[in-house]
Amino acid sequence: MGLKLDQIVPWGRSLAEYRRMFQLTPNDLHKKILDCGGGPASFNAEMTQLGHSVISCDPLYQFTANEIRDRIAATYDVILAGVKANLDNYVWREIDSPEALGRIRMAAMQDFLNDFEWGLQANRYQVSALPSLPFLNQTFDLAVCSHLLFSYSRQLSLDFHLEAMQELLRVADEVRIFPLLDVSGEPSPYLTAVIAELSSQGYRTQIQHVDYEFQLDGNQMLVVHQVKHG
Ligand SMILES: C[S@@+](CC[C@H](N)C(=O)[O-])C[C@H]1O[C@@H](n2cnc3c(N)ncnc32)[C@H](O)[C@@H]1O
Repeated sequence: MGLKLDQIVPWGRSLAEYRRMFQLTPNDLHKKILDCGGGPASFNAEMTQLGHSVISCDPLYQFTANEIRDRIAATYDVILAGVKANLDNYVWREIDSPEALGRIRMAAMQDFLNDFEWGLQANRYQVSALPSLPFLNQTFDLAVCSHLLFSYSRQLSLDFHLEAMQELLRVADEVRIFPLLDVSGEPSPYLTAVIAELSSQGYRTQIQHVDYEFQLDGNQMLVVHQVKHG
């Protein structure tokens, strides 16, 4: 059965997790990166502290830090209860209990909250939502999108996924999406159609195994490249 969520929730991961979910190499870290649907992840805060370039976009950023803190607190109870009711759907190896999950996620989200006001002023956090982003063509070397597309296949339609991928490929040379399961742990019903459509348009698509698995079998990312001509 798996975790059921009515809405897309704010729930954030760390740079260490992003590195593994997206197989980010030291070279990748030096790229100009868009974190689309970045939410309360600490990826931007931690990357900025290391001197790297990340812009995060999310409709969540229209809210104040206090409002986001309240939403995170409400999400905590929903996620922890959902995970405890579906323990077998997760790999309890590095994160060894629901309580540890809560601690690790809350620490990352606190790092985000500490950085948020400063990052808003620096335009590192931008209020915008797929499928329409306020960036010029090919602004970024790499766009990453974690736990939004495919994860929320019940809430977001196939057409939305196709439009969103097109938009990400308009603003970035390469797009990486993780995971390819929905939040309940089922493979997204849209993956095959998204790959077929992008391939037919001449994009290079690849499903890659990654060295990260918390949702059981959630250890694959989709990588899509622009194919350069001439
Ligand atoms: C589960 S969180 C994931 C946050 C982060 N990427 C991570 O993995 O730690 C999903 C995020 O997607 C954002 N979101 C929802 N609809 C969106 C849209 N249309 N475009 C961009 N982000 C969206 C939500 O506000 C939320 O912050």
